[in-house]
Amino acid sequence: MSTTILAIESSCDETSAAVCKDGQILTNYIAGQAVHEQFGGVVPELASRAHMQHIVPVVDVALKQAGVTVTDLDAIAFTQAPGLIGSLLVGSCFAKSLALALDKPLIAVHHMQAHVLANLIAEPAPSYPFLCLTVSGGHTQIVLCRSPLDMEVLGETLDDAAGEAFDKSAKLLDLPYPGGPLIDKHARSGNPERFAFPEPQIPGLNFSFSGLKTSILYFLQDGKRADPDFVRKNLDDICASIQHRIVTILLHKLGRAAKETGIREVCIAGGVSANSGLRTALKEMGERRGWNTYIPAFQYCTDNAGMIAQTAWYLYQAGQFADLSVSPSARAEW
Ligand code: KG4
Ligand code: ZN
Repeated sequence: MSTTILAIESSCDETSAAVCKDGQILTNYIAGQAVHEQFGGVVPELASRAHMQHIVPVVDVALKQAGVTVTDLDAIAFTQAPGLIGSLLVGSCFAKSLALALDKPLIAVHHMQAHVLANLIAEPAPSYPFLCLTVSGGHTQIVLCRSPLDMEVLGETLDDAAGEAFDKSAKLLDLPYPGGPLIDKHARSGNPERFAFPEPQIPGLNFSFSGLKTSILYFLQDGKRADPDFVRKNLDDICASIQHRIVTILLHKLGRAAKETGIREVCIAGGVSANSGLRTALKEMGERRGWNTYIPAFQYCTDNAGMIAQTAWYLYQAGQFADLSVSPSARAEW
């Protein structure tokens, strides 16, 4: 007998629904929210309202694309934490209502575990134990994954996430939100060695990006004082130099984690894993150090319900179901 799971992701500004059958993702439908662009960042109240508008049509499209109806579903999964509380509430209320109406089990999924397990959606998949650098707009973590449901956070950011470092740098350069992909685009034509930004000295496997932001701010103020057109004339080199520093901060810690644990199966996940500089640097570092490296397909890097469905499949097999009294949580311990 096969098992079909519907998964909902609504932790930030993407409303997504996915269907998986026996661990195979049949569809992963994602609706973004353009409403935030004009504000230069995600506005939580607007995100919740957009989720309310999107959730029913998004689930409808996903079921149709997968060729199933609600009566074929064996379980309903949703992102329980962490994320924006209003956004999480929309997804959790929808999932709980559907589970109750269909009398099917409910599965609560941890968003950060799901980012890590996105690496297992397609072949070749890493073997256990593996390390995952999860880099998104909200999180930066190095996770040791011993099995699908056994993970340990070895290090994380003490302030801004890597995606925030990209987006805040882009804002200082007057680039529109989200600026990460634009920094990546300009960096492709720039010289990464032209401007040297400092690397923070943070003990252990933790990260910090707030000092970098401040140094970029002062660097730009000095540059503009000397030449009001400084940013426009040097944009590609500035972007390449910022990206180079963010990537080296990330990879130095990842390299250290691999050395300390002796693990050579190394993955990245999260929206920032779309960054071309990070992808290339990871591949080069892997070749130098004899690692097997893995990066999920783009649709499974940014927030998506496919990774929630993948994680839900492991929880389903382990019999780990949630009660209808379960509440979403903005912050979540592992
Ligand atoms: O995982 P994600 O879609 O959402 C969160 O959970 O935060 O990650 C979004 C983040 C944003 O900060 C965005 O600027 C960044 O990922 N990002 C990139 C690139 N593509 C997305 N940053 C740098 N280079 C990229 N190509
Ligand atoms: Zn995420």
